[in-house]
Amino acid sequence: MEIRPRRNRSSETIRSLIRENQVTLSDLVYPMFVKDGKNIKEEIPTLKGNYRFSIDELLQEIESCVDLGLRTFMLFPAVEESLKDSFASYSYHSDNFYLKAATAIKKAFPEVCLISDVAMDPYSTDGHDGLVKDGRILNDETLPILAQMSVAQARAGFDIIGPSDMMDGRILYIRKALDEAGFTDTGIMSYTVKYASAFYGPFRDALNSAPKFGDKKTYQMDPANSREAFREAQLDADEGADFLMVKPAVHYLDVIQTLKQNFDLPIAAYHVSGEYALLKSGAEQGLLDLETAVKETLICLKRAGCDIIITYFAKQYAQWGKNNLG
Ligand code: PBG
Repeated sequence: MEIRPRRNRSSETIRSLIRENQVTLSDLVYPMFVKDGKNIKEEIPTLKGNYRFSIDELLQEIESCVDLGLRTFMLFPAVEESLKDSFASYSYHSDNFYLKAATAIKKAFPEVCLISDVAMDPYSTDGHDGLVKDGRILNDETLPILAQMSVAQARAGFDIIGPSDMMDGRILYIRKALDEAGFTDTGIMSYTVKYASAFYGPFRDALNSAPKFGDKKTYQMDPANSREAFREAQLDADEGADFLMVKPAVHYLDVIQTLKQNFDLPIAAYHVSGEYALLKSGAEQGLLDLETAVKETLICLKRAGCDIIITYFAKQYAQWGKNNLG
């Protein structure tokens, strides 16, 4: 035998010498949930280790994350039912706590990068990402609402706008609205390939944002398809997206790879709530070791082509310290 691949695996030093990918803290985005009020830090039962924070508590949490080396955060609002309506009008209301949270964070931590969520569901009595009429999700009528929400978020201080709604044409529509309002430097991270997935369950519990009727299959993509992902990515790239995101992550590595190979924009993957919950409960039941399993998961996302990983494990990963699969 002249060729022995095992030689290159014979010690951790050699393994680390030839290791092709790494996950660093600067690759990670930490999603967090914001709630109106004071002194609130309530654990989300379906997403243990994650909390709904009032702004004061959120600021403290961000500080501890920044101390650990995290820099980028994605915020989601948990909105009272009484503030919801069919037009999601609270989303751009000047009194909106979510917008105030962004302003407060940027004031206290100017170096932090904040990514928003643009979709109607957290604010909508219908629980859908778009405007509902006679049981249908309207596309073009939703766009001005998304644009208004985006401009309000940019004004509040968000660095990057994150449209997660999957309406057609929204990237161009939002880009134009941001530019017209003077926010030419505010980026757009498009939820480009967002599948109609079973893995969003714990998130919808966290925000109480599940659809009140039907499902999201007329706008989110069919998990059976990958060629359509290319089409969505082409459109978003042409419409001016600054980042392309695939969501969920682990079951869609092929899609991540296709996007990486065919587009020159940074590729992000959202390791979603159900993916987090599976690993977490598996570890709790003693079925796997959480740290090793999470590190393997994240490195596989990098290997597939992710530049950016959005994960509920971001803080935990930072606490575990240096990346070492050995
Ligand atoms: C809403 C939105 C969802 C997620 C992010 N933004 C849920 C959905 O589309 O129903 C899911 C994130 C997660 O599961 O962690 N537009």
